[in-house]
Order: sequence, then structure tokens, then C-alpha cells
Amino acid sequence: MHQVIVWRNELSVGREDIDEQHKKLVSLINWLSTEITHDSHSAIGQLLGALVQYTVYHFGYEERLIEEGCYPQTDAHKKEHQDFIEFMVQKQQAWEANEQINLDELGRFLRRWVIRHICGTDKDTMKWIEVMEEKRASKQQTSPP
Ligand SMILES: [Fe+2]
Repeated sequence: MHQVIVWRNELSVGREDIDEQHKKLVSLINWLSTEITHDSHSAIGQLLGALVQYTVYHFGYEERLIEEGCYPQTDAHKKEHQDFIEFMVQKQQAWEANEQINLDELGRFLRRWVIRHICGTDKDTMKWIEVMEEKRASKQQTSPP
């Protein structure tokens, strides 16, 4: 029995758009965690590719929000994203080159990474953005026409 991430309220960052993207990310990671039993090299290669592609899209989306919100730790957040993508691209290329990869270990790493990133970095960032958006909205309301 392979472990999977079950979506729960603690994983919510309080924004529907980001939560939906995180659910998709989690389902790709879960898929990778269960697909290994089928032992198909090309299916796993495709999954690794899909995971890279989706994280590039999702991180890009998040980073636009972060930059618009002038989050003070933008660079640190982006660095976490960048390191993750580099790591995943490396794994994907190694897989395509038929190098040995411990998929159990990779699955465990991905599950841990995504939970830690969502519950730490993303939640902190989204809280900041929410406050900034509220401030902006109240300024618009109080400023004279
Ligand atoms: Fe993030």
C-alpha cells in the first residue's frame, strides 16, 4: 500500500485559485506514488514530465501574485520553486536516460516537500497578499473620487 496525500483543510491557503492548483499538484504526486506499482517506464516518464510542466505553470502563477503583492520574501519563495524545478528536471532526465531512480524515495520526498511548502511558505505568503489586497481595497474605498 503506497502512501498518498489526502486533501484536508489544513492544506488550504485560503484562496480558491491556489487551492485548486495545489489539489492538482497533489493528485499528480499521488499518481506518481501509486503508478510505480504498474512498473511502466514510459508511463512514469510521462508523469514526471507532467509534474514538471504543471509545477512550472503553477509556480509562475504564484510568482505573479507574489510580485504584485510586493511580498518581502519574494526571492526566497522563488528560490524554493526554482530548486524544486531543477531537482525535478534532473530526475526526469535521469529517468529518460534509464538511470536508477528510487521511486519510493522520490515519492516520499515529493509528499514531504509539497506539504511543507504549502503549509509554510505558501500560507505565509498568501496571508501577506490577502492583507495587501484588503489594504488596497480599503484605500480605494476611502480615497476621494
Ligand atoms: Fe509556492
